[in-house]
Amino acid sequence: MLRFVVSVFLFFSTIPPILNSLALTEMITCSGMVPMKYRNDKISITDFGGVGDGRTLNTKAFQEAIYRIQHLRRRGGTLLYIPPGVYLTESFNLTSHMTLYLARGAVIKATQDTGNWPLIAPLPSYGRGRELPGGRYQSFIHADGVHDVIITGENGTIDGQGGVWWNMWRQRTLQFTRPSLIEFMNSRNIIISNVIFQNSPFWNIHPVYCSNVVIRYVTILAPSDSPNTDGIDPDSSSHVCIEDSYISTGDDLVSVKSGWDEYGIAFGRCSSDITIRRITGSSPFAGIAVGSETSGGVENVLAEHINLFNMGLGIHVKTNIGRGGFIRNITITNVFMENSRKGIKIAGDVGGHPDDRFNPNALPVVKGINIKNVWGVKVQQAGLIKGLKNSPFTGICLSNINLHSPTPTGPRSSSWKCSDVSGGSHLVNPGPCSELCSTDQNDSCSSQF
Ligand SMILES: *[C@@H]1O[C@H](CO)[C@@H](O)[C@H](O)[C@H]1NC(C)=O
Ligand SMILES: *[C@@H]1O[C@H](CO)[C@@H](O)[C@H](O)[C@H]1NC(C)=O
Ligand SMILES: *[C@@H]1O[C@H](CO)[C@@H](O)[C@H](O)[C@H]1NC(C)=O
Ligand SMILES: *[C@@H]1O[C@H](CO)[C@@H](O)[C@H](O)[C@H]1NC(C)=O
Repeated sequence: MLRFVVSVFLFFSTIPPILNSLALTEMITCSGMVPMKYRNDKISITDFGGVGDGRTLNTKAFQEAIYRIQHLRRRGGTLLYIPPGVYLTESFNLTSHMTLYLARGAVIKATQDTGNWPLIAPLPSYGRGRELPGGRYQSFIHADGVHDVIITGENGTIDGQGGVWWNMWRQRTLQFTRPSLIEFMNSRNIIISNVIFQNSPFWNIHPVYCSNVVIRYVTILAPSDSPNTDGIDPDSSSHVCIEDSYISTGDDLVSVKSGWDEYGIAFGRCSSDITIRRITGSSPFAGIAVGSETSGGVENVLAEHINLFNMGLGIHVKTNIGRGGFIRNITITNVFMENSRKGIKIAGDVGGHPDDRFNPNALPVVKGINIKNVWGVKVQQAGLIKGLKNSPFTGICLSNINLHSPTPTGPRSSSWKCSDVSGGSHLVNPGPCSELCSTDQNDSCSSQF
């Protein structure tokens, strides 16, 4: 015991005081934002006839277990335990006051029989399915109007077996928009932690019209060529915290959205107070994205301590004419990226329209984007900032950004291209475009530097 105390003392006494104080400072997390409930009442999927042999269809077992939770309403809610094994099932719905607990080695696997997949109405803020007109396939795990739901365990897996869907997309034989792996609609007080998500047919985790959502300690995996397999898309939702996760997929790792053109404008629900921290991953698209569907507005986003490898783009803020809405007060800081085609892109000409009824005069307002403390190696092009002629982007502030070229001895990353943008910059290398070179300390950026 004495030896232990002495060695701890020696350890702390040999590291520099600054690191020492850092090591002892508690890390900022969103634990506590949504209460992690202990559930006295526990049931197992096997109590409802669930068989984890990878072949038996367990849809009825999931439906009956969840029906029991919904209708018996045990005080403090109920934990549904999924033991080790592979539980094949069709899509099913969650209910309030439940924990879906996946043991180590538990896999909930989506059926590959897409013929009977349930269809639901399009989201009102999109007006139609995101991919195709009309309704959309219900997410594999679905919840509408619930609260106090926890999905957790010992890093079990939720597997969408998306290959069949990706092939239908490639062969253009899809009839409706592909299902997300998990979607919460109109819900609050949700925790998703310690789960592995893999091979989603479409977007992985989609909280839409939600508040108080915590997603942490998750792993999200899909092949880099799998179409539209976004990691986490907070959509018209507020108070969402995403942290301490690894995401490697075929599309944006995290993308904050809020509806599509005239439908999103009419619905008018913004995404706000979104925290994204300590995310690591890779993708042929973006690491941290906002958009392009932002018609309800996006504000108060903080992304920090982001590590990106083998990327298309590090940071991507994207919108378009017809979107309307706003993107404001976005802070992205402490980003490391290695091997990326582009470092930073902020653009007003990205993404298509739901139909030709969009209003070309509905211009988005992009204002107050602060990007700081970015270190990039092997970045081919530093950045592109392309505002709209009739709605220039303002308050675009870049500071302490270093983006290095692919070869250490070669030329620096090719530089910035900008148009219809104002703001400022401080310690940016390669030097930014003239629009952001203002040395006027009275611009909207001075408080950021
Ligand atoms: C699941 O939820 C959807 C949307 O809320 C609903 O349309 C559907 O009937 C539910 N399915 C079952 C089996 O309860
Ligand atoms: C599950 O994965 C998370 C995130 O990768 C990790 O922090 C945690 O220790 C793992 N938990 C278990 C029980 O293996
Ligand atoms: C801007 O967003 C941050 C979160 O990143 C928030 O703390 C701050 O209050 C917001 N500022 C304003 C003026 O709303
Ligand atoms: C600084 O900006 C404020 C607000 O935009 C303006 O009222 C003021 O005149 C400016 N001061 C100078 C010295 O340019």
